Formats: sequence, C-alpha cells, structure tokens
Amino acid sequence: MITHEENELLCRVQGDAPMGQLMRRHWTPVCLAEEVAEPDGAPVKARVFGESLVVYRDSDGNVGVLDEHCPHRGASLALGRNEDGGLRCLYHGWKMDTEGNVLEMVSEPAASGFAEKLKHKAYPVKEWGGMIWAYFGQAETTPEFVPPPWAPTAQTRVSIAKVWVPCNWAQILEGAIDSAHSSSLHSSDMVPARVSSAEATENNWLRPSTDKAPRMQVENTGYGFRYAALRRPIVNAAANEYVRSTVFVAPGTVLIPPNNLYNVANVNVPMDDTNTSFYFIAWGAPGHTPETQTWRKFLRQTVGVDLDERYRPLRTIENDFWQDRQAMKAGNFTGITGFPNQDVAMWLTMGPIADRTKDRLGASDLAVVAFRRQMIDAVRQFREGAAAIGTGEDTVSTAVCAFQAIVPKTTDWRDYAAQPVWGPAGQAVDSSYVVDQR
Ligand code: FES
Ligand SMILES: [Fe+2]
Repeated sequence: MITHEENELLCRVQGDAPMGQLMRRHWTPVCLAEEVAEPDGAPVKARVFGESLVVYRDSDGNVGVLDEHCPHRGASLALGRNEDGGLRCLYHGWKMDTEGNVLEMVSEPAASGFAEKLKHKAYPVKEWGGMIWAYFGQAETTPEFVPPPWAPTAQTRVSIAKVWVPCNWAQILEGAIDSAHSSSLHSSDMVPARVSSAEATENNWLRPSTDKAPRMQVENTGYGFRYAALRRPIVNAAANEYVRSTVFVAPGTVLIPPNNLYNVANVNVPMDDTNTSFYFIAWGAPGHTPETQTWRKFLRQTVGVDLDERYRPLRTIENDFWQDRQAMKAGNFTGITGFPNQDVAMWLTMGPIADRTKDRLGASDLAVVAFRRQMIDAVRQFREGAAAIGTGEDTVSTAVCAFQAIVPKTTDWRDYAAQPVWGPAGQAVDSSYVVDQR
C-alpha cells in the first residue's frame, strides 16, 4: 500500500510531472519502424508523455519526430503532404524538415526571412530494433543511444506486437513483474508439463511446474532490479528448484524469462497519464524467433482481427473482452483468448489509474512492492537534482538478461551465469515453428 501522493508521483507523466521528466532522460520508443516504412509515405500520429507528435520518413529515408501541430497556427501535420524532403502543412503550405527547419513559408513574402528565424519542435531520432526512438529531454543532455538488451545487435530478429492500452503505464508494468499471476490468469496458455524447461509450442508455453505460489527474491541494481520467482518443479522437487528470473529496467522495460527458442520483453511507453503504448517483444536468433505476423497471431494481437488500425484492442470493457463463458465451463480458465488479452482485461478493470492506496499485498507481491518503492524513491531523488535512474553509469548493458532454469536447490540464482537464448543449446531446432492458424 502506498499513499495517494506517492501513487500520483509514480503514475503521472504529463506536463511537469516529475516521473515524466525522469522518463524524458531516456531514449524512448515513439512508434514501430513499420508504421513509417516508406520514404514520402503517410505520416503517423504518436503520443508520448502527453505530447502529440507526428512521425514521418522523408524522401531520403530520414525519420522526423515533430510536434504534431504546425508552428504557424496549429493545424495537424499528420494530415500534411510528405514530399520533396519535408512535411507540408495543408492549411497554408508551410513545410518542415525532419530537424524542424522551416523550408518553405509560402504564405509569407520571400524577403521576410521569417522562415530562417523559426524552428519547429523536433526531437533527436534513432531507428533501432524495429522502433523509432526519440530523446525528449533537453537537447544538451542527449545521451548517446545504447542498444537495449532486447535488441543487442542489428542481426537480432526482433518481432513486436504493439497494443494501445487505455490505462496508466505503471499498472501494466506491474503485470510483467508479477510472476504469480501467470499460474492463474494464464494457466490455460502457460501449461504445466513434464519438460526440462519452459518450452514454446505452436499454441502454448509449457512450464515445468504446477506451483501457483512462488517464493520471491529481489536484488536491486543501478538500472532497476532483478528478481527470482522460485517454484517447486514437477520433476525431482526434493533436490531442485524452478527459477524464473525477471529483470526490471527502469523506467518502462521488463525482460521476461525466455522459453527454449527465444527471449521475451515488454516495453511500456506512456502516451499520457491514462494511455500506454505496450510493446510485447520476441527476440533472438532469426531461425528460432517467430516472425512478426506469426508472433502477433500467437498473441492474438493482429491488426484487423484483434486490434483496429491504430492498435486499439477490439476486446473492450464494454464487450467483456469477448469472454466465452461456455469455454470456461469446458475448462478454459478465463474464457479470453490470447494471453496478453487476459492481461489487458485485468489492467483496464483496475481503472484508468489504479488506486494503490487500497491494495492488500501479500508475499508474492514482493517485486511489485520493490518496483513502487524503487521508482518512488528514484523520482523523489530526481526531483532533488539526482540523475534519472538507469542513466549515465547505470545504463543497462546488453549483457543483462532474464532466465529460467531448473537448478539444484544449492544454487543461488544470483550467481547463475545466464545468457540470452540464441536457439536451444546442442539441439537441432525445428525451424518450421509456426502458429496454429485457427
Ligand atoms: S497552420 Fe500550418 S501553414 Fe498555417
Ligand atoms: Fe500476464
């Protein structure tokens, strides 16, 4: 349980809210690269930290992230013409390049020199790991872009499902560091089995444990924390323990324990106080990591089927997330297909900003408590002038990873030399990995 004031500090990101200011000290994903794939293609709207943005790719392939509203009188540049090295406002024809220079001001006399004096708001941009990133802090504090642990190299396959979730970012993030929920909420999709580790099949993720009440241990780090959820394995529980170690990378990333084929991460980017861009990422070796369309089908996050064209879920509070009570009677735990849809249903029913003053937390909520404490402390310190958590020397390195393993009880998970999954060690991999099309 935290106070109302602490909840506000943790959740709010718009305007001068200190958490939003802290987040602006990190390079931040703005949209998927595929949304602006074409030079001179249609610009797209994006929203980050309460700012409305337009993203476009110019004739030379450079990407711009600009204030959506024209510097002249505020019409939306998302409706503009993307042509000849700039984005032209429809209203009076002003044209801006990806750096915010005003190239043409057709409504003004050429001799006025007005265009040279004016600069439209444009942010530094980086394209990496299938995302368009921008830096929203003050330009003079722009750090060098560092690849995230979920896209360590340009050769990594990164497949991303994007969802616009209409609630606050922090309750979404808490879902990813809450190992206990997966044994209930996702019990029909993450099924216990006599396997030697978590395995991906066409329809499910198999898990070598039936234990619904994991013991939790947390270790704080400079970039966030990592924690282990320890469960009794199905096989040889007397000698062994099933460890799932998850990594929180402040402010909005969680590295989730992998399966035998590929690694998994969640990235949460606040659009504003009550909307979040949620990215569910599979990454790893190209031969063993599902392709984007396959990944989205597996998660039930396909545009036109599960989402509208702006990535908003078609399953909503109003239609009970298409919950199927018959399927529940027949044994399905939630009646909601696609395990991220089960998460979305829980997050949205907690309200636009979850009221944490009324929580009754138990032992399995240890990582959730660690997250709240760490981020509230970090934002208070930041407000007093300290560096933002996870920046500078504390920037996360690509050596940091989540893992899952059955280990002897004598092993301390903190000492386990985990590496990202890059195909199953010593095994031939079935590269025909495809998802059931039903
Ligand atoms: S409002 Fe955009 S050119 Fe006038
Ligand atoms: Fe979940």
